[in-house]
Amino acid sequence: MTVLITGGAGFIGSNFVLDWMGASGEPVINVDKLTYAGNVANLAPLAGDARHVFVQADIADQPRLEQLLAEHRPRAIVNFAAESHVDRSIHGAGDFVQTNVVGTFHLLQAALGYWRDTLGRDSSFRFLHVSTDEVYGSLGPDDAAFSETTAYAPNSPYSASKAASDHLVRAWHHTYGMPVLTTNCSNNYGPLQFPEKLIPLMISKALAGEPLPVYGDGKNVRDWLYVGDHCSAIRAVLARGTPGEVYNVGGNSERQNIEVVHTLCRILDELAPAREPYSRLITYVTDRPGHDRRYAIDARKIARELGWEPSVAFEDGMRRTVQWYLDNADWVKAVQSGEYRQWLDVNYVRR
Ligand code: NAD
Ligand code: DAU
Repeated sequence: MTVLITGGAGFIGSNFVLDWMGASGEPVINVDKLTYAGNVANLAPLAGDARHVFVQADIADQPRLEQLLAEHRPRAIVNFAAESHVDRSIHGAGDFVQTNVVGTFHLLQAALGYWRDTLGRDSSFRFLHVSTDEVYGSLGPDDAAFSETTAYAPNSPYSASKAASDHLVRAWHHTYGMPVLTTNCSNNYGPLQFPEKLIPLMISKALAGEPLPVYGDGKNVRDWLYVGDHCSAIRAVLARGTPGEVYNVGGNSERQNIEVVHTLCRILDELAPAREPYSRLITYVTDRPGHDRRYAIDARKIARELGWEPSVAFEDGMRRTVQWYLDNADWVKAVQSGEYRQWLDVNYVRR
């Protein structure tokens, strides 16, 4: 048996591949275009492991995907590949439409041909699409958390492109009967996250003694989930989810951004003390255009039907994350200098 993972050199994808290889040992075909967010160094622990085949390819390259599916005959596809950063989508939406919408379309087309013609509509095949809670829009302070039946109302170019991809996945099930699963997850944090996202950005800026830029009034709320818990949720959905169903995944850890930054500062004060408390670096800056006020996930369906619940408490996950960034300063430095772009040629065999 083999699974094909897309976007497996990014933050969540690489955590998932490492986790998967540790937990099951089942071979992985890892298809990643290696955009700025893809980093083969994330997969260094798998160097030399024949069960992990890395392929540098674009999910929009349908002939290449068809060839890979025919060659490796995976029993499942898990689609992490995406442009994922909201701020980048505001500055330029083209790559988001191309990868998240057009790319997902080509991946679905390749998967459909493979499932229908090569596997003879094998009902055990799965196409799992990894998506986001941002497709549901923004909540007011007293609104109920997003459930799987909340209407889509995406507000940013990023979330609109992810919403479009979710609709395509849904249609490939409804129209062609393809056994698809969709997960909509809240904000992840943990090791290997590209330092443009709130938590790793704040850690690296704090350690560099630079201002910590908090957008707007800092009271926007996100529901934080440790990345290892997201990986276990995806494993549960892949193993036991019902085709055609959607599962929301969240951490039951709603926090205002300013609370998150204060928590990070407090942990850093303890683990890497500086002359002054890190919170002195907090600086309020211009808000993100269209900034969604609050996200919150109702994850009762996945708990009830698949027995999944988050296992890492917010404070514990934050501590582990800060410690990881302290222990991996070279990783951050290489990402910031751009040096990580050269690691493909040095450390990895392209297939
Ligand atoms: P990331 O930006 O860290 O990684 C994305 C990966 O996809 C990179 O390795 C990149 O090289 C690859 N990629 C981009 N375009 C590609 C293409 N055209 N073909 C093949 N590979 C391509 O993203 P992430 O934070 O790891 O997110 C992974 C998935 O999870 C995304 O679909 C995202 O929408 C979703 N998600 C993320 C979060 C979060 O908090 N980070 C929460 C919920 C859902
Ligand atoms: O909710 C799930 C989504 O979470 C995923 O789908 C996205 O891929 C992922 O990037 C993330 O999106 P956010 O926009 O919520 O994450 P980000 O880390 O960019 O920002 C988190 C919050 O912190 C948000 O309210 C904006 C704020 N922020 C962010 C940055 C980078 C700041 O205040 N300052 C910053 O410098």
